[in-house]
Amino acid sequence: MPGAVRILGAGAMGRLWAGYLPAGAAAFVQRPHTVPHPIDYQFCDLNGHHRRVTVADARDVTGTPEVLLVMTKAQDTQAAVAAHLPDLPPEVPVVLFQNGMGCQQAIARRWPERPVCAASTTEGAHRPDDQLTVHAGAGHTWVGAMTPTAHQQLSRVIRVLAASTRPVDCEPQILQRLWNKLIINAGINPFTALLDCPNGALPEQDYYRRHIDPLCLELHWLMEAEGLASPGPQQMRAQIETIARATANNSSSMRSDVARKRPTEIDYINGYVWRRGEELGLSLPVNRMLTEQVTALSATC
Ligand code: PAF
Repeated sequence: MPGAVRILGAGAMGRLWAGYLPAGAAAFVQRPHTVPHPIDYQFCDLNGHHRRVTVADARDVTGTPEVLLVMTKAQDTQAAVAAHLPDLPPEVPVVLFQNGMGCQQAIARRWPERPVCAASTTEGAHRPDDQLTVHAGAGHTWVGAMTPTAHQQLSRVIRVLAASTRPVDCEPQILQRLWNKLIINAGINPFTALLDCPNGALPEQDYYRRHIDPLCLELHWLMEAEGLASPGPQQMRAQIETIARATANNSSSMRSDVARKRPTEIDYINGYVWRRGEELGLSLPVNRMLTEQVTALSATC
């Protein structure tokens, strides 16, 4: 059915999925009170081939959607979902693609009857300008249930996403999977934003070297308190530095947000760790310090 995959959030990730789904399958959910209009852009795939993609406005398509993919920034997600859910039949699965942690749990708590899933993806995409979306790194996507009713909908979600031809799998341990990514983001993003350096420069920076071991220890304590399998602080640091070197020329999403004077996702990365630690009676001062410093940095931009 045309427009069966509704996508909330027309940023790089939303455009990446719309670019790979079969022609006409995706429709962007746009802001209310705007004139309905299709979104048109150049899409550059992994082989460097360019093609034009046109994605309908969800208000211009009829029929019940199969799935809602939510690809907004973490801090915008609750409000965006709340605005759209009244229009969405209750059985339609909602798949959350946010970086970091906290908004997945908040949405699952707020709409416990809805089929809410979380996705973790290693696909890399960016938008060098408004007209161009580049698939910069081949990745994999895992999807898992966040609410009881989501379990019955998982195979449908996987089938819909797999029509993109990108690799997608069901993940029974989605929290563990989200945590694996949180470790990487907690160890790379705030430091690259504060030091204003590309990912690859991080392992040699004094400030990073001073704080990375205590940071990994705090992440390890919180994972243990949550009953999750921690790789251990040393292994965490090794994973962070492997990814920093593998993405050496990248500007992390947090560094880019600061440079473009946009709000960062710090509250859903180190801020989540610090506040969740407090709820569980743990003091996690390095995560707190990084949260406060990045918050101060974005406030002064
Ligand atoms: O947020 C990001 O930028 C990415 O997740 C990562 C892995 C840190 C690479 O830049």
